[in-house]
Amino acid sequence: MNLMPAFKLSVDENQIALLHLDLEGEKVNKLTAAVVQEAEEIFDDLRHRSDLRAIVLISDKENTFIAGADIQEFLKFESASQAAEASRSGQRLLQKIADMKIPVVAAIQGACLGGGMEVALACHYRICADDRKTQLGQPEVKLGLLPGAGGTQRLPPLVGLQNAIEIATSGRNYRPQQALRTGIVDEVVPRPLLLHVALTRAGELGEGKIRPRRHRPQGLLAWALECNPVGRWLLFRQAEKMIREKTHGHYPAPLRALGAIRAGVSQGPVKGYMEESKAFGDLAMTSTCRQLIHLFFATTDLKKDPGMDGPSIRPQAVAPVGILGAGFMGAGIAAVCSSAGVNARLRDVSEEACLKGLTACYRVFDDRFRRKSISRLELQQLKDRVSATTELNSFSTCGLIIEAVIEDVDLKHQVVREVEPHLRDDCVWGSNTSSISIAKLAEASRRPEQFIGLHFFSPVHKMPLLEIIVTRQTSKQTIATSVEYGKLIGKFPIVVNDGVGFYTSRILSPYMNEASFILEEGAPVEALDQAMIDFGFPVGPMTLLDEVGIDVAAKVGKIMLEAFGERLKPPSSMEQLIQNGRLGRKLRKGFYQYVLNRKEEVRKVGVDPTIYDLLPGGRNRKPVVAGDIQSRLSMAMLNECARCLEEGILRSPRDGDIGAVMGLGFPPFQGGPFRYMDAMGLENVLRNLESLQKKWGDRFKPSEMIVRMAESKESFYS
Ligand code: NAI
Repeated sequence: MNLMPAFKLSVDENQIALLHLDLEGEKVNKLTAAVVQEAEEIFDDLRHRSDLRAIVLISDKENTFIAGADIQEFLKFESASQAAEASRSGQRLLQKIADMKIPVVAAIQGACLGGGMEVALACHYRICADDRKTQLGQPEVKLGLLPGAGGTQRLPPLVGLQNAIEIATSGRNYRPQQALRTGIVDEVVPRPLLLHVALTRAGELGEGKIRPRRHRPQGLLAWALECNPVGRWLLFRQAEKMIREKTHGHYPAPLRALGAIRAGVSQGPVKGYMEESKAFGDLAMTSTCRQLIHLFFATTDLKKDPGMDGPSIRPQAVAPVGILGAGFMGAGIAAVCSSAGVNARLRDVSEEACLKGLTACYRVFDDRFRRKSISRLELQQLKDRVSATTELNSFSTCGLIIEAVIEDVDLKHQVVREVEPHLRDDCVWGSNTSSISIAKLAEASRRPEQFIGLHFFSPVHKMPLLEIIVTRQTSKQTIATSVEYGKLIGKFPIVVNDGVGFYTSRILSPYMNEASFILEEGAPVEALDQAMIDFGFPVGPMTLLDEVGIDVAAKVGKIMLEAFGERLKPPSSMEQLIQNGRLGRKLRKGFYQYVLNRKEEVRKVGVDPTIYDLLPGGRNRKPVVAGDIQSRLSMAMLNECARCLEEGILRSPRDGDIGAVMGLGFPPFQGGPFRYMDAMGLENVLRNLESLQKKWGDRFKPSEMIVRMAESKESFYS
């Protein structure tokens, strides 16, 4: 029997121990309690060996060094003290590595995240492979936690206080060159040389030819900020202010991470480690942490989901992808295709539109180059994969067409009829419509079984959701191909059934309507936005209306009214705003005023008071209780979510949660609308809806599913 399933040890002729990590039966290496214990035993043993000069720690997994702790274990904690103890045992193990008399070198390739990065930080030297799969970071705050195995204490002396704060409180990942610049790693080498260089450095460290590095502040300002108490006080104060502005009090983890760093820096390591494990324990018990972990598991589950029941079907290859419409969305879709290594061909009606699309697409790549996340060669490769044309003759090789022309049924029908004859017989047709039923659009197609909705969100290169809409006629092959395409371009694809507004646009509709009703009742614009930001949305509804375009929203509103009747009837005042030429941010005239800054970027400055001249109540606005706004808007959305599940638009509450969080910014710390309803209790959801219905009318009539579940005391998740 193999008692040590994760590690294998060998010693080379230069007396350097090579410790291979390869967790049996798992795709990635992770730090389970068993792995931690095994590692502790190995390092206890290695400590007493006098025949070794150095140790190299390396992973045998294809694309992971160590992906992090085993998150499943976090959900099993029953108390803060139990979680704090788990943190302390991680700290103890890593201290053993740090205290080794002989140097330990981490040879990193692939994901080196969370606990994995803390292991690397405890080593005396870090080398990473220069490839796309290698990423380092402390993403714990994204799960409502903090690095609990000494990360908050080891970072400052290695990377400096400013970088340490950024790494531990932002949760962002670092690519090899960024990790080198920040000081997370000591060296970046081509992947084939990783082991060779690691063994060489281990030998050199063992002989004292090189020494483990410590951070030295570069420049006077960094020195002033990091090396004296007043500078540090300023730095922490500024960081705290920024975190508070970003988290609006909903995410305690970044502040606790900052607190742990501060304790270590100002009161010494003993206090620092104590604060880190205490904070880990406290955070592990918060509902924020639990909901973020549930959401994380929902997304990992989705990655394995083929998007349909029954036997799996082999997806067909999609490249090159043809994109019809080189506008705002088309250009974004081309950018994500190219980023995934897929050739993209844009088509628009004029050379000017083609050029505009290409320029917008290139801007995404140029930004990445400016931020140094890609090399000049990669920049050129990204650009080379995108082309634009007004012709159709080069589309006959495409495996997938994505239509992103203007939201107009007749135009979309015309485009289908015009383009389809030029395509391969097995080419999948995806429409990026944001509201029109896919079955309706498929009426123009000669092969409706290859017709599907591919609803992207803007900005396409940033928004992680892809809503895939299937009709009764869509073939399994088309679904399988579309889901695979979504995963290929790095999106989270949720498959929903066809219906006007699908899932995301539909649940957004009553939410936006309610905001406009409250505005008509006399509320100030900024009160509505602030209330929903305080609720946890990244932007408020009025800002969102300006961004989407008041005219676009009104168009969707009409489509919703036609399909669902009075329940989704939009308020009448929106038409007046459109007649007044207020279309939102794109015309720099909406609920807010906009100015162009020096870089020619549009910036929101403040509410435009003249908007009130077009609304009931005029400029005399009435104060509204934020809780009332939050209750009306959120309950309107939750009720519609339940209807979507009830009608079979959604396949599962999981997809509903992912769709709302990733597509609309529903507060992740609530886990999504279905988790939120479960936490509230269906009986309370029903009671709230009934009291809103009494006050505001039948648009709040509880969905049958909510009534039934409240009566039978069910929840969406068991
Ligand atoms: P847009 O107005 O920026 O771009 C549309 C492009 O289609 C224009 O460049 C136009 O010249 C081109 N076009 C018109 N007729 C054409 C034809 N026959 N062949 C090829 N190109 C043609 O519009 P946007 O915002 O990119 O929207 C496109 C689609 O994406 C719409 O269906 C919209 O509802 C949907 N959508 C938009 C989102 C947004 O935030 N803007 C979000 C999600 C979906």
